[in-house]
Amino acid sequence: MVAPLKVGIAGLGTVGAEVVRLIEGQSAALSARCGRPIRVVAVTARSKAKKRGLDLRGVAWARDPQALAENAEVDCLVELIGGAGDPALSAIETALKSGKSVVTANKALIAKHGLRLAKAAEAHGAALNFEAAVGAAIPVIKTLREGLAGTSIDRVYGILNGTCNYILTRMEQEGLSFAECLADAQRLGYAEANPSFDVDGHDTAQKLAILASLAFGTKVAESAIYVEGISSIAPEDLRAAADLGYRVKLLGVAVRTAKGIEQRVHPTMVPKSSSIAQVMGVTNAVTIDGHGIPPITLVGPGAGGSATASAVIADIADVARGVRASPFGRPAEQLKATEKAPMERHEGGYYIRLMARDLPGTAASIATRLAEQKISIESIVQRHPNGEAAKAAGKSSQVPVILITYATHEDAVYRALKAVQRDKVISGRPQVIRIEKN
Ligand code: HSE
Repeated sequence: MVAPLKVGIAGLGTVGAEVVRLIEGQSAALSARCGRPIRVVAVTARSKAKKRGLDLRGVAWARDPQALAENAEVDCLVELIGGAGDPALSAIETALKSGKSVVTANKALIAKHGLRLAKAAEAHGAALNFEAAVGAAIPVIKTLREGLAGTSIDRVYGILNGTCNYILTRMEQEGLSFAECLADAQRLGYAEANPSFDVDGHDTAQKLAILASLAFGTKVAESAIYVEGISSIAPEDLRAAADLGYRVKLLGVAVRTAKGIEQRVHPTMVPKSSSIAQVMGVTNAVTIDGHGIPPITLVGPGAGGSATASAVIADIADVARGVRASPFGRPAEQLKATEKAPMERHEGGYYIRLMARDLPGTAASIATRLAEQKISIESIVQRHPNGEAAKAAGKSSQVPVILITYATHEDAVYRALKAVQRDKVISGRPQVIRIEKN
């Protein structure tokens, strides 16, 4: 009989409890797949007394995560506490330094300390697996690290935050405001405790930092990512996008450019026909453009107890099988530093929505300012809600003007818009959304 893999679990929240249940409930199938049994031998959580509906007879209770990491009975530490620092960080470092493998769902910790932890894992011959940290049940880490190990990647982009996609979906489908949809997401328990972490793009940025490292061999660095959230998106943007054949999604994008790896998170117009545009509600998706192969899109649940536990169990199974891949797909020493993308040099198409004065010459003057910056217009739409009636009533009115540009540089767009503002033909701040082509 092959020795079992002895697992210690730190954190018995929704995910931790589900992991314990799955290891117990699927023990025969897991044992058959891995060639050895997997056994939970010790656990720790904030409260020992809390009712969790788990049978923990025969399982040791460790005083704290550190004690669990030091427990000689434990071969593999499963960290499901969360947080970018202690106690998770110290417990993981202790485990790795004593040669124990680690499985974690902690995106914040991997985004911040992934490089240092990967070095510790490699130095001590341990595994550091974090499939659940990005897109929960979607096996995107494994796809990038192993499945596409022989493919040069040009771009990886995705919907990595279910809360933002839920908000944008409802705003589009029901014409609701951002605030109304955020309140619903919080009521339904999708949003993080601090909703700004979701809606301002930071959750997506942490996940993107991990994907970019795997895809491009960069040092995982959240600070290298340009981040913009979705709070400025209005229902009229989603309506206009739909009319023009686009949808707005909060994307995390990492792309190889002539100037290096560009990593950015921002609301993005995507063609309605693209795979990523079909992804609605809390679902996550990642598209990978590999050199010489058509794009691969993985779609699935990016959060939730069972979805996250599914990825955690797969990572534990890899440890049981003896798989010891470099955490970021190549030796951590070889990962390269990357600079923050200078967005003023970003090249792409743009959606621009302006509130313009409804008088002769306005459209011409806007077009002139764009032309001065060599920006070519792909489409322009002006919609007056009341049209002739407002004119007949002698009202000098404002009309939304929506422009889609061909590919240009971001600094050219902002120079043109400054000139338009100086001309006093528009009121308020222009809305600008980047377009990502598939
Ligand atoms: N708040 C995250 C989301 C949870 O909305 O996707 C998973 O990281």
